[in-house]
Amino acid sequence: MTTDNFETKLEKAVKQVENGLKAHLASDDETPETLLEAMRYASLDGGKRLRPFLVNETASLFKAEQQLVTEAAIAIECIHCYSLIHDDLPSMDNDELRRGRPTLWKHSDEATAILAGDSLQTLAFEILSNAPTPTNSYIKSQLINGLAKAVGKTGMVGGQIRDMAAEKSSEVNFADILMIHSQKTGALISFAAEAGAIIGGADHHAREAIKLFGQKLGLAFQLKDDLLDVEGTTNDLGKTAGKDQASGKATLVSILGHEKAVTFLSNLKDGALYALEPFGEKAETLREATRFVCERQN
Ligand code: IPE
Ligand code: IPE
Ligand code: MG
Ligand code: MG
Ligand code: MG
Repeated sequence: MTTDNFETKLEKAVKQVENGLKAHLASDDETPETLLEAMRYASLDGGKRLRPFLVNETASLFKAEQQLVTEAAIAIECIHCYSLIHDDLPSMDNDELRRGRPTLWKHSDEATAILAGDSLQTLAFEILSNAPTPTNSYIKSQLINGLAKAVGKTGMVGGQIRDMAAEKSSEVNFADILMIHSQKTGALISFAAEAGAIIGGADHHAREAIKLFGQKLGLAFQLKDDLLDVEGTTNDLGKTAGKDQASGKATLVSILGHEKAVTFLSNLKDGALYALEPFGEKAETLREATRFVCERQN
């Protein structure tokens, strides 16, 4: 069954990331153990691992070199875990619960959380640059450059600072929120999808289709996150529910209202599915993933 297929593949990504991260975070003589422990705490044994799964699945549409796919998937998850550590800091969202346990700053202290985040970020680039060089070495520099752009000032970090500013402003409109969401969340999700296509040496048209898919999926992901913040329970989410409203954060749900937000999510889902058309049957697991993103409960 297709659903089993999707679940099995997601489970494979979960194991692959867990094992890969464990190996990259093994104790050594040079790294302070406190730092390693903090990095492990925030990255192991938790999370849906959706981004690594996307790298694997888009790569499977092309002829990709598997070892590089695996390392890119792990590197992207390092970035994601770093982004969550910093997102939860008192100076940002001030959250105390993540993946069903105390956030890193709460578990240890703020300085350790900042530094563990920094270190997971640089580890991502260490992993990518150290990965086996593919037959076409230009692929690797495209991956490193693409990841830096998705994470930095025009990507995740840019979106996070816009998000912080929007919390203090009363004049945030629909276009502003689309921009925030596509940078803070969409950029990394979209890059995870694109990474598989880059490694697989996809041609321009295929890569554009995958990018479009990733952009729609990324927006849908954050919109669903905002809906779950309203609809979900702290227990199911593993993070504090109702945080957005409590902190007066403008989201697509607060701007559009619940009903229109749900309709917009459905449109984004259709857009993502449409972008997969060129890949026919081969993209069935990515279709399942799209439905998973839009229908998930945590
Ligand atoms: C949460 O991401 C942060 C957002 C970008 C909305 P995920 O929902 O993918 O978090 P984990 O990795 O599954 O915990
Ligand atoms: C987080 O968005 C986006 C990131 C870059 C981490 P949120 O602040 O809505 O994510 P949660 O709800 O804390 O997971
Ligand atoms: Mg946030
Ligand atoms: Mg947050
Ligand atoms: Mg949220």
